[in-house]
Amino acid sequence: MADSGPASFLTRANAIYRKNLTYQKRNIWSNVRLIMIPFYLCIVLVCVQALIDSQVNNSVDNQCGCKCIDKTGVEKCQMVCGVEYSTRDQGVFCAIPKPQPWPPLMLIPRPENRAVDTKYTDAPCRRKHSCPVSILLTGNNQSLGATLSRNLLRTSFTMNSFDILSSLADNVLATTYKGSATNYLDAGIVSDLSIYNIQPQCPPHSSFPFSVGQSPLNFTKEMRCVQGLNLWRNSSREINHEIFKGYQKGNSDGLISEIVAAYDLLNTIKTNFNVNIWYNATYKDDSNRPIKLVRVPRLVSLVSNAYLQYLQGPGTRISFEFVKEMPKQETKLRLDLASLIGPVFFTWVILLLLPKQHRLRIIMKMHGLGDGPYWMISYVYFLAISTLFIICLMIFGSAIGLKFFRINDYSLQFVFYFLNINLQISIAFLISSAFSKVETASVAAYIYVFGSGLLGLFLFQFMLEDLSFHRGWILVLELYPGFSLFRGLYELSQFAFHGNLSGRDGMKWKHFSDSGMDEVFYIIIVEWFVSLTVAYYIDKISSSGKDPLFFLKNTFKKSPFSQRPSFQKQVSAASKGMEKLDVIQESEKVEKLMLEQNTSHAIVCHNLKKVYPGRDGNPPKKAVQGLSLAVPTGESFGMLGPNGAGKTSFINTMTGLVKPTSGSAFVNGLSICTEMDRVYTSLGVCPQHDLLWETLTGREHLLFYGRLKNLKGSDLNQAVEEALKSVNLFHGGVADKPAGKYSGGMKRRLSVAISLIGSPKVVYMDEPSTGLDPASRVNLWTAIKRAKRHTAIILTTHSMEEAEFLCDRLGIFVDGRLQCIGNPKELKGRYGGSYVLTMTTASEHEQNMEMLVQEFSPNSKKIYHIAGTQKFEIPKEKVRISEVFQAVEKAKRSFKVFAWGLANTTLEDVFIKVARTAQDFNAFS
Ligand SMILES: *[C@@H]1O[C@H](CO)[C@@H](O)[C@H](O)[C@H]1NC(C)=O
Ligand SMILES: *[C@@H]1O[C@H](CO)[C@@H](O)[C@H](O)[C@H]1NC(C)=O
Ligand SMILES: *[C@@H]1O[C@H](CO)[C@@H](O)[C@H](O)[C@H]1NC(C)=O
Repeated sequence: MADSGPASFLTRANAIYRKNLTYQKRNIWSNVRLIMIPFYLCIVLVCVQALIDSQVNNSVDNQCGCKCIDKTGVEKCQMVCGVEYSTRDQGVFCAIPKPQPWPPLMLIPRPENRAVDTKYTDAPCRRKHSCPVSILLTGNNQSLGATLSRNLLRTSFTMNSFDILSSLADNVLATTYKGSATNYLDAGIVSDLSIYNIQPQCPPHSSFPFSVGQSPLNFTKEMRCVQGLNLWRNSSREINHEIFKGYQKGNSDGLISEIVAAYDLLNTIKTNFNVNIWYNATYKDDSNRPIKLVRVPRLVSLVSNAYLQYLQGPGTRISFEFVKEMPKQETKLRLDLASLIGPVFFTWVILLLLPKQHRLRIIMKMHGLGDGPYWMISYVYFLAISTLFIICLMIFGSAIGLKFFRINDYSLQFVFYFLNINLQISIAFLISSAFSKVETASVAAYIYVFGSGLLGLFLFQFMLEDLSFHRGWILVLELYPGFSLFRGLYELSQFAFHGNLSGRDGMKWKHFSDSGMDEVFYIIIVEWFVSLTVAYYIDKISSSGKDPLFFLKNTFKKSPFSQRPSFQKQVSAASKGMEKLDVIQESEKVEKLMLEQNTSHAIVCHNLKKVYPGRDGNPPKKAVQGLSLAVPTGESFGMLGPNGAGKTSFINTMTGLVKPTSGSAFVNGLSICTEMDRVYTSLGVCPQHDLLWETLTGREHLLFYGRLKNLKGSDLNQAVEEALKSVNLFHGGVADKPAGKYSGGMKRRLSVAISLIGSPKVVYMDEPSTGLDPASRVNLWTAIKRAKRHTAIILTTHSMEEAEFLCDRLGIFVDGRLQCIGNPKELKGRYGGSYVLTMTTASEHEQNMEMLVQEFSPNSKKIYHIAGTQKFEIPKEKVRISEVFQAVEKAKRSFKVFAWGLANTTLEDVFIKVARTAQDFNAFS
């Protein structure tokens, strides 16, 4: 067990690697559960998809109809699918090799909105729904306009029942239905609304039914006549004005007055046909898209025909028989739900990987686990788990047929996920180093996870799809890591969705730069480096006790403090005068040791100071104010002091957890400021709260910390065994039980064993026996006492019994300063040169009792009284015990004494006295 120097980087990395391995083996089920999450998620998605498939994608309504037809005549029918076997609704999805021609329709206003001539202001026709529709005309030659307007509409209605479609073309047909997205099924015909034919004068009983189209796309409609008025206006300006006024808002009468269309014939003459047409383009279809121009051609043919007839006479006609769209392939609806809702799901799943850090880090650090190995191993560990996780996600997802995974390029997906988890791990490091509290860090992490998913879905996706949203802002939003992940997943899902819908591939590398994926990749890579660097920086800074934003504070807060130092100097000078002789002696001893560079003392602290910077407007907290102390090997030094006196700060400083503000300290001649790495090899710490891994056994804990102390092979096993024996954890298989099953006492003993493993030269124990039952306590004390022989121990405690039992010397520490130093006996002698007499009488005799005591000891002091019970402090040298007894006898004769007692001073009295005087003094100064 020779001192083999500090453990190398690899040894330490190995120690934490092995510990993590055991830890993960023990936690195998929680890891399996984590990796199963993608599996469950994929199952859920598959179930929902199956539901959608059965209800929508493969439902009869969503397919072209089929029929079993006996074609060959051998009574064995064959399934044949096609538009001819479909219902009207199914027909929409069929392949249509020969589209149905439809008569061209014009769009006319609904009856209640139609413009009426000023003569009709009361407009009874509106109530009867029989208002005429108006077409406005203008041009340079009114008599020409009049001629054309006569030719515009047919005076009679003609229909040939053998060739309905062609004969309909001779009439001017119209609908009030506002457009449709496709013309395979003209919405004006498919809808239940009537079809109108516009005539200059409607004959009575002009409504009748007719049918159009071939099965199954055939419709029976009602044909109604509507009167058409051709109205001349003097100029196109006038028409504009009229249309503008009538547009929806209504004119001065509050009436909406819409017209069908308007023609400006400009300079049309016999040899030149020139026309402008007004049509209403603000109509929207069902899904709010502007309609196609499918209603406009009829307006053109109408005026052209009128012009032709003006030139050639009524015998010549331009007829416009039908409009039809091009033939189309089958358009089966294939909704891929996973691709649609994928982004938010996968954002959650991937963000759930966000690793959560553990505060056990502190104790590992106290035992010499540097930042390097810790970061490296944690990073590699999280990366391994996460990579496994996403591989599982991709495998499960593809295996059960999610298009999201299947039709996008696998290597692209993998690189995307892999970059993302790297970014995520660095962000987790950043969060955990920025929020020192574990709880705050995990709350921040959860908010980040769920917030990103929801914001992504409801805000970011909305902006992405809104093309008017400036792309630059999208880029800025993507700087938020949750959104860059969301964007990537969104692009993948869009490619998958549309690829699936059209039977093409999803995203491939060739789409990399035009899909927005490239910017996401670059952002992620840059952020990954930045967050790792910042996390490491914050971690370094905060472990040296500075505020992470110290460089800002320094510049802002310099001036208000500039007056402080002189004041501080005065106070410290004043208090120096008050310092007790023993403390001064100790610091003189330290001065001497410092000069000699002597290593006989394992711990030497010289004027050590630790000041925490003020936060939130509080003044800086001086936790340790100039502590000088030397502890030789083999001594155990007890530190007593009220809560908040700075004991734990002192230990944190000495273990390198925080850097001292000034002063120096040496452990075995090595400075804690510059050579902490080497100090750790010979250091043991037992922190105030047990920091243990629930699932690791006692033995595994000791093996881990032993390795950190650079113990190897048989030395290691032997040391672990000894340590277990020394704290009574060896027998009965206790050593191989997980620490989570230990009782409080056993945990405490394990913590002490950890601090003692590897025979450290220096051990710090922060209240080692708090919360132990008396039997375990004695056990523990024996172990500590045994270990003391080769070690210098500094322990803090609130138990005077412990202090008296364990410590060779004691120091009482108040407000960051030692108030006195000495062995327990000396201290009692020095501070406790008095007896304490306790008397309980009826309260009316309090006065008498006090007088009695004054009589035999005029220097006595009443230190406590309540309801007849009084305590007097009686100086030892001025009084003999017999006198006290006499006085009590005398008292008993004159009045009733309920109880009384006389006690020598205890360490507790000393402590209370020293602490109180020091605090009074400090409060006073
Ligand atoms: C206006 O049109 C008529 C034919 O309807 C024609 O006779 C007349 O010359 C035209 N007037 C002008 C000024 O072009
Ligand atoms: C249009 O012109 C005719 C004849 O030039 C005129 O009588 C009529 O008042 C004009 N109408 C308007 C609205 O200006
Ligand atoms: C044009 O169409 C819109 C939408 O239906 C309607 O509100 C508006 O009144 C129409 N304008 C005219 C001049 O007919």
